Amino acid sequence: MRVISFILTTCVSLAVASKSPCIELNDGNKMPIVALGTGRGTASENANVDEVRHAVYWAIEAGYRHIDTAAIYFDETQVGQGIADAIANNLVTREELFITTKLWNDKHHREQVVPALKESLQKLGLDYVDLYLIHFPIAVKADGSPDDVDYLETWQGMEEARELGLTRSIGVSNFNASQVDRVIAHSKVCPVVNQIEVNPTNTQEELVAHCQERGVAVMAYSPFGFLVSRNKPNAPPPRADDPVLVEMAKKYKKTTSQIVLRYLIDRGLVPVPKSANKNRIVQNIDLFDFSLTPEEVQQINKFNKNVRVIHPVHLKDYPNYPFWE
Ligand SMILES: NC(=O)c1ccc[n+]([C@@H]2O[C@H](COP(=O)([O-])OP(=O)(O)OC[C@H]3O[C@@H](n4cnc5c(N)ncnc54)[C@H](OP(=O)(O)O)[C@@H]3O)[C@@H](O)[C@H]2O)c1
Repeated sequence: MRVISFILTTCVSLAVASKSPCIELNDGNKMPIVALGTGRGTASENANVDEVRHAVYWAIEAGYRHIDTAAIYFDETQVGQGIADAIANNLVTREELFITTKLWNDKHHREQVVPALKESLQKLGLDYVDLYLIHFPIAVKADGSPDDVDYLETWQGMEEARELGLTRSIGVSNFNASQVDRVIAHSKVCPVVNQIEVNPTNTQEELVAHCQERGVAVMAYSPFGFLVSRNKPNAPPPRADDPVLVEMAKKYKKTTSQIVLRYLIDRGLVPVPKSANKNRIVQNIDLFDFSLTPEEVQQINKFNKNVRVIHPVHLKDYPNYPFWE
């Protein structure tokens, strides 16, 4: 069994120091621990996404080196502009950045993968990404109806993209434990990452342990869970003013949002907090001057209710739907 090793080095940049240590992936590449999320939930092809360009720039200025995007966020062009602005202003070089993007469900046929990544690269204005993920194990046709493509076939396309140097590493997202195992058992290249939802109401302890024991790093999306408004008034606690989190926040002189991000880091995860607000972007990476005790991590685990923020029930009858509840 391969266990992820944590590298306590900090990547040094030209003008703005990185705030984020890295973990070493199972292919030897290094991934910065905190990624700026750029998906906005309500993304559409015509959405105004100028805010993403600013967010990416502010994030790099604040010390982030890892940016998370996806073809389906329709913001790769703006992510690329933010990166180009930062490079033009000598904040960083391309080599110091770690850029993740994702293959959407309607491009799962093996021969579609490389062209899909090339299209993402063109939008991003990059020659390569650092990490390319299969966004979901579910395949759909162009009209959104189910397509019966085995994700092992998709994975072969991912391996080809890696061999061509279009991406340094390849991984998956929203795969359950048996799907992760199936890819590992039947492929040349092991996924380096499984990006899944993890937060205090959906702690995913079994799946996280399963991946980490196999050397597959876990990126935690929707890291704030229901601390932030999701228009679900009956969602289980914690909220941002929860007494358990407030007490920890007082102890460490941090906000409850920072406590939750640090909780994820202390579980060996790579949180992907999204913000388009400059102050919150800065706050969300100011996490490396404290850590929670194992007891505090357990206390937050106790909030778990297996309730998801992202629950694509409209896909539940599609082949390879990964969530069982
Ligand atoms: N692989 C997948 O299937 C998948 C699915 C969902 C998400 N993701 C990735 O994960 C990222 C994050 O997930 P998410 O956007 O669902 O949720 P999130 O990061 O947990 O929450 C984002 C919300 O929290 C607010 N916020 C950010 N920092 C805050 C702070 N310090 N204090 C208070 N509020 C704060 C943001 O508002 P402001 O912008 O106003 O700060 C926004 O409303 C996405 O952007 C995307 O990159 C991946």
